[in-house]
Amino acid sequence: MSSTAVLGCIFGDEAKAKIVDVLAADADIIVRFQGGSNAGHTIQFENKKFVMHLIPSGIFHEHKVCILGSGVVLDPEQLEKEMEALQANGVSFENRFFIDERTSLVLPIHKEIDAWMEELKEDDNIGTTKRGIGPCYSDSISRIGLRMCDLDNKEYIVKKLNYLYKYHKISESQENLKALSERYFQFGNRMKKYMMNIPYYLDKAYRENKEILFEGAQGTLLDIYFGTYPFVTSSHTVSGGISVASGYAPNRIDLLVGVYKSYFTRVGSGPFPTEQINSVGDQIRKQGNEFGSTTGRPRRCGWFDAVAAKFSAMINGIDSIALTLLDVLSGVNELYICDHYEINGKAIYEFPADQRLLAQAKPVYIKLEGWTEDISDCKSWDELPERAKDYVRKIEVIMDIPINILSVGPNRDQTIFLIQEDE
Ligand code: GDP
Ligand code: IMO
Ligand code: MG
Repeated sequence: MSSTAVLGCIFGDEAKAKIVDVLAADADIIVRFQGGSNAGHTIQFENKKFVMHLIPSGIFHEHKVCILGSGVVLDPEQLEKEMEALQANGVSFENRFFIDERTSLVLPIHKEIDAWMEELKEDDNIGTTKRGIGPCYSDSISRIGLRMCDLDNKEYIVKKLNYLYKYHKISESQENLKALSERYFQFGNRMKKYMMNIPYYLDKAYRENKEILFEGAQGTLLDIYFGTYPFVTSSHTVSGGISVASGYAPNRIDLLVGVYKSYFTRVGSGPFPTEQINSVGDQIRKQGNEFGSTTGRPRRCGWFDAVAAKFSAMINGIDSIALTLLDVLSGVNELYICDHYEINGKAIYEFPADQRLLAQAKPVYIKLEGWTEDISDCKSWDELPERAKDYVRKIEVIMDIPINILSVGPNRDQTIFLIQEDE
């Protein structure tokens, strides 16, 4: 029996979904606990590729239970679209997919506000995914949001919608609000069989020695408190957020797996000290096919930033690292790891709280030689070229955390498990 969490430790898109899909083979229950359809989680196996925004990445393991926790912001249209697409591919949801009754709903008004806030910010915009995430979380915190358990009564839904629209000073006709209420009431009816008081389900699972796997969305550097605020998402992406967003007690979580890309990427605005706006950045983007899974935007690419990486390991309490997309670095002549920053002429080893300072940070690098061999077929540590091993070892030493998983390609079987000598 154990509970494991898989968390993105940089700016998102670390290949969390791939790692969750691989680890789900040994789990009983997979829980998405935060974020919404801003996430784009890609899974590849048997020449098939799926991008999920809401459904947990354990869904392709037939007999595993998949859960959306209370901290998820759920877009009804997106959820049903995703469910239908998966059902068309033979995936069954019956008796194995559950949603916490407390889960908040993303409404059309949230997407409107998201777009409008971005417009208002002009050049300082966050570059959100425009999925209504921030406004939905704001309404939830303001105690005016609509939740799954509200959907059993049309009058109640209308009442809440009325307040919500008035609060946001957005005028909407009663006719339209009634139509919206009807739509969500029907959605609630269809979802009734999936709704559950999840904390009790997870408690029972814990007592029955079930293996529970928590799937993070986004990444630590996009956390609402610990990320590069305000260029962040609106949820708690860090390990502390798991309990808050699922109702599963923190002392029951046994293992925290941090997913790190072998280099860094970021989508949207905000400081990124090791970003490479040059031919190396372009090479990495091309080799890693670094385009957003949700919005298709080109991802900004840069070197592994050990200051940021160690900060995220620290606040999450990462026990074990999954280092992903190592194959993408094949053919990059020289590799760099940022050891510390220089800010206003001073050597800085701490990740600054103020993103304006981070924006001035000049990375000070350690240089390593790259390798040329294609490593995407390597099945073991021994098969890797010496220089690839050196790169991985260097990151492990800097992080002072064991790297137990190496990912060398998008497919399930392109995964190398590393057992540490003292284990
Ligand atoms: P997530 O949001 O953290 O789940 O990551 P995304 O799915 O947004 O982005 C990761 C991308 O890298 C996806 O297109 C994956 O199919 C792909 N991928 C995952 N692991 C590897 C890997 O080891 N090598 C390569 N080349 N691609 C990978
Ligand atoms: P996964 O789970 C990468 C980024 C957006 C934007 C900022 C705020 O696939 O790793 P939001 O729409 O959340 O208000 O946008 O956060 N962002 C992500 N970047 N991966 C994600 O999810 C992201 N989800 C949000 O680009 O900069
Ligand atoms: Mg993604």
